[in-house]
Amino acid sequence: MRLSASTDIDMCLLPHDVAATRAHAQVLAGAELLTDDEVELIEGALGAIEARWRAGALVVEGDEDVHSLVERLLTQELGDLGARIHAGRSRNDLVATDLRLWCRAEADVVIGRIVGLVEVLGRVAAPHAHTVMPGYTHLQRAQPVSLAFHLLAHGFALVRDGWRFVSARDAADVSPLGAGALGGNTLGLDPSLGASALGFETAFDNAMDAVSQRDFACDFLYAGALCGVHLSRLAEEIVLWTSAEFGFARLPDEWSTGSSMMPQKRNPDLAELIRGRTAGGIGDLAALLTLLKGLPLAYNRDLQEDKVALFSGAGRVRRGLEGMTALVGALSFDADRLAGAATGTTMWATDVAERLVARGVPFRTAHEAVGGLVADLERRGIGLGDAPVDLLKSHHGLLEPHDRYLADPQAGLRARSSAGGASPERVGEQLRRLEEVGEALGASIAP
Ligand code: ARG
Repeated sequence: MRLSASTDIDMCLLPHDVAATRAHAQVLAGAELLTDDEVELIEGALGAIEARWRAGALVVEGDEDVHSLVERLLTQELGDLGARIHAGRSRNDLVATDLRLWCRAEADVVIGRIVGLVEVLGRVAAPHAHTVMPGYTHLQRAQPVSLAFHLLAHGFALVRDGWRFVSARDAADVSPLGAGALGGNTLGLDPSLGASALGFETAFDNAMDAVSQRDFACDFLYAGALCGVHLSRLAEEIVLWTSAEFGFARLPDEWSTGSSMMPQKRNPDLAELIRGRTAGGIGDLAALLTLLKGLPLAYNRDLQEDKVALFSGAGRVRRGLEGMTALVGALSFDADRLAGAATGTTMWATDVAERLVARGVPFRTAHEAVGGLVADLERRGIGLGDAPVDLLKSHHGLLEPHDRYLADPQAGLRARSSAGGASPERVGEQLRRLEEVGEALGASIAP
């Protein structure tokens, strides 16, 4: 029993098991195997079982899993009538039904958390369309961008995660109820009745597939693993930005932790935990795929372990989203420090090369000329703003004195005005777009 029992994991399926059992009673009534009065008695007893569970008053007594528990309680309450419920049904189609109901509901919760985080990112980003900072490649300063632009990049990644959960929810929206152990039943039970009683979009096509497959759970865990990766990348930036080396952002005391030894420390532990727990979320997906890869059709008891991975992965992503929403909302930014990191650099190089391109110079020629200019200025220890005109001209005859305005990172920011670019007006568009897609995502949650 210690190896076999799963009630410590699957008790959270109880409300779904009750719903699936209620639906199955209606299916049995549809085949005239139960009367309407009997269905009513079963529904009453199931309601009482769920109420006892909600009150924390259900005691497991040697039950192998949540399905056997519900059936035992039903039979204790209703005698022979309770003993009729499992006709044409197996725990194989029942557990798949419960799990799909769980995934559908949990996906909506996670989508709601994503919408909340996207809103906070938009709110935090909005005042910073002019807050200039370096944009990085290879963690080297690359081009001037704004803080808003950078935060929005995380926002759009999370919206994609949200749609991935919508599609995982759609994948779960097929009823396996009526598949029986693997081959359907001889009682003429109609799977479409169970599907519509449970609000599923449709019923299964093939009973063997219905009890064997966990594609929907893989979809859910993939959505969770990738969302975790996105949270982890944002967490990593919070860790970097709140370090003395960057000094771009600060976490208030409530959201940082001290050290047991070093009194001066303000550690971004929560960001580190979000980053660290993503490892387990990726592991949960790998565990489920590995669990499935060698299984012959149809049901195999290995499948009981799907819940371990699924519930763990769902909990990780949900907790990560909640933590990140708090962290992002609590960050304060040091605009001077951000601007300082973008000032006195050579991040203007691409922009000056593009001035030459606009004047008809081939890009490769412009790239080489500006590369020479950068090296020359570095050698002389002066910035572009202080470059003598003849020095500019010595690197390319089409360089103009006014090109030196690009030494100001704000000018570089304003200049990146192509669609989807970093300029303040384009960031304004992106803020509105993020709000729009965030709202659309929120509207996809079942009322
Ligand atoms: N507890 C099992 C699971 O989670 C369902 C029971 C099916 N067991 C069986 N022997 N057919 O997958």
